Amino acid sequence: MSHILSAVAWPYANGPRHIGHVAGFGVPSDVFSRYMRMRGHDVLMVSGTDEHGTPIMVQAEAEGLSPQELADKNNRIIVEDLVALGLSYDLFTRTTTVNHEEVVQELFRICRDNGYMVVQEMSVAIDPETGNTLPDRYIEGTCPLCGADGARGDQCDACGKQLDPQDLINPVSKVSGKTPEFKITEHYFLDLPALADSLGTWLDEVEETGKWRPNVISFSKHLLDDVRPRAMSRDISWGIPIPGWEDQPNKRLYVWFDAVIGYLSAAIEWARRREAAGKGSADDWRQWWNNPEALSYYFMGKDNIVFHSQIWPAELLAYNGKGSRGGNAGVFGELNLPTQVVSSEFLTMESRKFSSSKGVVIYVRDMLERYQADALRYFIAIAGPETADSDFTWEEFVRRTNSELVAGWGNLVSRAGAMIAKNFGEIPPASELEDVDRELLAQIEAGFDTVGTLIEEHHQRAAITEIMRLVGETNAYVSATEPFKLKAPEERERLGTVLNTLIQAVSDLNIMMSVFLPHSANAIDAILGGAGDIAPMPQIVEVTDLDNGKAYPIISGDYTNVRPWEHTPVVVGTPIAKPKPVFTKLDTSIIAEELERLGIGG
Ligand code: MF3
Ligand code: ZN
Repeated sequence: MSHILSAVAWPYANGPRHIGHVAGFGVPSDVFSRYMRMRGHDVLMVSGTDEHGTPIMVQAEAEGLSPQELADKNNRIIVEDLVALGLSYDLFTRTTTVNHEEVVQELFRICRDNGYMVVQEMSVAIDPETGNTLPDRYIEGTCPLCGADGARGDQCDACGKQLDPQDLINPVSKVSGKTPEFKITEHYFLDLPALADSLGTWLDEVEETGKWRPNVISFSKHLLDDVRPRAMSRDISWGIPIPGWEDQPNKRLYVWFDAVIGYLSAAIEWARRREAAGKGSADDWRQWWNNPEALSYYFMGKDNIVFHSQIWPAELLAYNGKGSRGGNAGVFGELNLPTQVVSSEFLTMESRKFSSSKGVVIYVRDMLERYQADALRYFIAIAGPETADSDFTWEEFVRRTNSELVAGWGNLVSRAGAMIAKNFGEIPPASELEDVDRELLAQIEAGFDTVGTLIEEHHQRAAITEIMRLVGETNAYVSATEPFKLKAPEERERLGTVLNTLIQAVSDLNIMMSVFLPHSANAIDAILGGAGDIAPMPQIVEVTDLDNGKAYPIISGDYTNVRPWEHTPVVVGTPIAKPKPVFTKLDTSIIAEELERLGIGG
């Protein structure tokens, strides 16, 4: 059994999250974590809201709130949405806790003491209209590397490379449309050249495993072609204070420097909270971070890759003292580098890029008010942007929900439950199995291995497709054995055998489904006579900051009581009542309705 860290990208708290976001980091990380728990591993799934940086400041100003007020508001909305989706975080916290600040400052200090944080001059952009410093992503221009227009000062979406704003050709301020002025100030730089060899060795090692997605590993290795020191502080008044520069409140740590450290600080907060609850030691986080056998998987959309396959590993190597300047780890000890960066591609919506400003967006909240969480989870799992961009369309959402979830899986459950309820009222015993029965059961049992391996290797689309194939096989079994025709008294024994086989298949399929569709898995578990708790659910817990008493909501849960990922015999005699439908059939009229909401002609 391994210790597995499920490190889930931290959503920005500058607004509510849309379905593209949760397709990238949310559903894949939850499926993986649920599965690994069922395999008996010690999973720690952590994340939180990313609350520093310019996006928060700019949005706060637009709403007439302080950055903290805006973050407080969106943190709660995001927490509620992620819980409604059933994402089973052990801890979902935020980056404005005292704990996070202290952990970040400890990392910063040791990286600096080890010689990997160097002060250099840099030119910063000022908006001539407002006189404010212009954050990188609020400057647009032509990419100096690939020539694409609309590159941002921090990154070019066309070629994916990190940029510095002064490199842009014809830069303009997104705030005023004016050409920014650049002034020279001092900043702390992470000395990537001094860490490049170690980064390269680490990337070679992870490439050896053959487990990283090809585009992620090749992108990450290409980043090493051009390593320069990267600024890890900013001229901004919202962010974590820089140790030693406290007298300069308009300089703060760069939001990405602090956000990635959240994976560590959240693990520490989790352990501290457990100790406070009398359930463990405040050092328990070390099992996931100091133990070299522990595994860590990072889930995100592709625009986050550079920060997880270069900046974060570089911070860790610098803290560990493992670059060309040597050094020693601080109080946190030697910290593990990522086992795997599991990045997905982008989800588009009706062939368009999601854009809140253009209204091409569906927020998680709106989606879940109108549709079942598992219908969204199903779409993301089977048609999401796992290794290539994919498109969400309302037509396809309705088609998949109705023909696959309702008419496929849901109907199988209903038929099986209804036939048992009507003929026996409880799970009947099986007498002698025929070939057709044995073949079905063998296929389903083999599914635990096939589907499990696919999930372990991050092929979730193939995994749920395989479960749905087995659902099809089970529906075919009903057609082949025709239990509804077995009415004569001398056929009753055979009827019992068929229905026992059928409900066994449904029950095992539901165990596999529970990682993808936890809400409906619980409903189906109840139909099958269980307690309806096959898939443990996350909860919102109102807590206070461990260090300053400020109240905030976290996501947490007790996921220890999970079913093992294996064929589990049903219990003969379990009462079964006629089931209600688990999935809601969608009226095709919603397609036009939703397109109209988006302002897309239908
Ligand atoms: N807030 C970033 C985004 O939404 C993701 C941060 S991931 C972390 O793109 F690792 F930095 F936390
Ligand atoms: Zn470019």
